[in-house]
Amino acid sequence: MTTILPSDTAIIAIANGAPLNKPNPVNALGAPIRQYLQTSLKKAIDDPNIQAIVLIGRHDGKGVFSAGADIKEFSGSSGGSVTISEAGGIPTLNDIAHLMERSPKPIVAALTGACLGGGMELALAAQYRVADNTLRYGLPEVKIGLIPGAGGTQRLPRLCGARHALDVIVRGRINCSAKEGLKFHFLDGVASEDETVLECALRWAGWASNLPSVSLDSRRLCHRSVPPDAEGVDKTDMCDFAMQSLPSVERGGESAHATVKAIRASFELSSFREGMEVEKNLFNDLLYHSLQGRAYRHIFFAERSASGSSSIRNKQSSQLRQGKGTIGVIGAGTMGRGIAISFLRAGFGPVILVDVNEKGLKDGVQYILSTLEGEAKKGRIHPSKLGAVMTSLQSSTSLSDLADCDIIVEAVFENLNVKREIFSKLDTISKKMDALLLSNTSTLDVDAIASSLSQPRRAFCAGMHFFSPAHIMKLVEVVRGKDTSTDTLDIICAVSKRIRKVPVVVGNCDGFVGNRMLHPYSTESTLLLAEYGGGDNGLGVADVDDALSRYFGMAAGPFLIFDIAGNDIGYNIRREKGLVRDPKTGQVGPNRSAQMRYTELADEMVVKFGRMGQKTMKGWYNYDAKVGKGRKPLPSSEMQDLINKYSMDSPHRGRKLGKDEIVSRILFPLVNEGFKILEEGIASDPADIDIIYLYGYGFPAWKGGPMFWADNYIGLAPILSELEKLHQYYPGSDYFRPSDLLRKCVSLGLGVQEYYKQGYAKASTAGIKSKL
Ligand code: COA
Repeated sequence: MTTILPSDTAIIAIANGAPLNKPNPVNALGAPIRQYLQTSLKKAIDDPNIQAIVLIGRHDGKGVFSAGADIKEFSGSSGGSVTISEAGGIPTLNDIAHLMERSPKPIVAALTGACLGGGMELALAAQYRVADNTLRYGLPEVKIGLIPGAGGTQRLPRLCGARHALDVIVRGRINCSAKEGLKFHFLDGVASEDETVLECALRWAGWASNLPSVSLDSRRLCHRSVPPDAEGVDKTDMCDFAMQSLPSVERGGESAHATVKAIRASFELSSFREGMEVEKNLFNDLLYHSLQGRAYRHIFFAERSASGSSSIRNKQSSQLRQGKGTIGVIGAGTMGRGIAISFLRAGFGPVILVDVNEKGLKDGVQYILSTLEGEAKKGRIHPSKLGAVMTSLQSSTSLSDLADCDIIVEAVFENLNVKREIFSKLDTISKKMDALLLSNTSTLDVDAIASSLSQPRRAFCAGMHFFSPAHIMKLVEVVRGKDTSTDTLDIICAVSKRIRKVPVVVGNCDGFVGNRMLHPYSTESTLLLAEYGGGDNGLGVADVDDALSRYFGMAAGPFLIFDIAGNDIGYNIRREKGLVRDPKTGQVGPNRSAQMRYTELADEMVVKFGRMGQKTMKGWYNYDAKVGKGRKPLPSSEMQDLINKYSMDSPHRGRKLGKDEIVSRILFPLVNEGFKILEEGIASDPADIDIIYLYGYGFPAWKGGPMFWADNYIGLAPILSELEKLHQYYPGSDYFRPSDLLRKCVSLGLGVQEYYKQGYAKASTAGIKSKL
């Protein structure tokens, strides 16, 4: 509803245009809101009693202004909410921006909270902008594979100069403050302490409506040209410089390159109209033809849906959701330290770190405090909060000090008996019957851990698998045991978000989702060397890493990752599984059958040569303390000799494989395992797997995750046919056996995401998310 005040100013609140039955917490500018804005603006403009207009997020001046175009509209076939007028007369954002800019009455945008994307573009089309200190403005379209398409690339440089426009648009910022807005002239004013943003906007509206029309005309950005840079740098040079720092177009940089081209058009072309034409063409090209863009948008929604969201709200969960609660962390090693930092940084406290080893505990506390100090110096913790954060850390060598904790995360080394013993002690120590008792295990059976608790406690027990380093990596696998309650999962997800993690609920099995899929990936990488390596021209360690990282886009190749993590870890897992040869007796492990495809290459390098990885300065590569801080991988002749030895009898010895062949041999079985995980209900949605691989394993975002990549970049039919061939050729590698779900999708002619969207999966999986 449009309110007319005695002062002849119409107030149009964006939120009023949202349909009542559809929650729209961020005022995304979907069709009904655009329709409402157009009608309200036209009405106010035509009304002779109205002298000025205020555009605000909500009538009470609280909440967000707008997070921009409704991204859901970009995944449909129309996709044109920004630039292409739709049938039925629904206006585009561009239509509304033009209407605002041409308005014969001054429009003041009153900005609060998020003012992003299309929301900011509407603000730019207003003649005046004021805000309060909650404002966070920016143009993040590049992060969803697009560019601003409602004039943002043309109006922002004209208002604030090319420097600020490049910073905001190319980096896709969402955090520009009111202070920055004043500095770069995005804002005309900020509400004083004793007035609301609405009062401030009304003040400006009253003043502006009394100015002569010529001054209104000067506020229309379409009539301005881009000002010279305040520091005298040439605008073209600035754009060239920005271009140099971008990823290449092939490696995820399509939209980023387009942003620079559009900004360039704002000062190189002679008119606003021509610049807008360039913006429109670039935007539409990305929207309709960019697979990278679809991948980025897939991730945006996958990340938000991965953790589910429920309406469960008991007292305990409300406190924890707000970052209040006592946390216990058991184990002061690498993982425990990172976990404690994550909770402290988010304001939880006290956080009690427990370790029986006094020296380890002391070192852990020291490490945590110095890391927090470092983060404050880098501006990640507000200096005024640092003291409180640091004093929230307590330490103890006794588990009994965890009696009053709301959440206890156990992070000791991977040994089932040790973990069970700790949990059975917690059973009696913990005074709160609803305390969450969580294990940061990466592979162990969560039910076996929970079974050491009394029955009523098991509902509050789950896995909370952090990734190393835990204060940096965003992913948390939330592992549901057979007795874990939905309420518990819901609170863990909420708390994970509070500590700035991306939680994904998964089922309980060996390696859960991420590490289980990693098994075929790492095994096949090593087997490739034993098969195609050797001789002068054979496949080498660096060839495989190069294909997966530089060519495909993984953050690092498999062998470099093994060296960073420690090759002894993989060896110990294989030993626990009964696969390795006993170094003393020479006996082959009991679980390695004669038919199993296996190479002892990775075992011998550890047992015989002590090549554990970076920690011993030798692994798949050599390392030299003087080169690249001891982290740069260098070729190793010892490893080459070992590869020569193990490839000796292979019929493919000494053959180089093409990059695509390497990628498919290693990644197709990983994808196949993803299908098996879905089949078993260990993951409840392919998008969950994508998020796990993106945030836990460095999968390239522009390929959308392994399942998106399989569906959209390769296609499921070619993957199935390749797996069938490989399984026939290598029956001893079960990971090549195509999953039934993969076969089903291919026979239906559906991608796996579509298969889930169309509801085929409901009957066949355990549907973790559906239980949330
Ligand atoms: N279109 C459609 N839905 C959007 C949206 C948009 N532009 N921006 C946010 N949402 C939805 C989210 O999907 C989420 O929905 P859900 O509750 O059903 O999962 C909800 O709004 C809240 O968003 P969320 O990101 O969980 O909240 P937050 O407080 O952490 O962050 C923002 C808020 C606005 C900073 C963040 O959502 C954001 O960056 N949005 C994207 C903005 C953007 O890219 N705009 C340009 C569009 S062209």
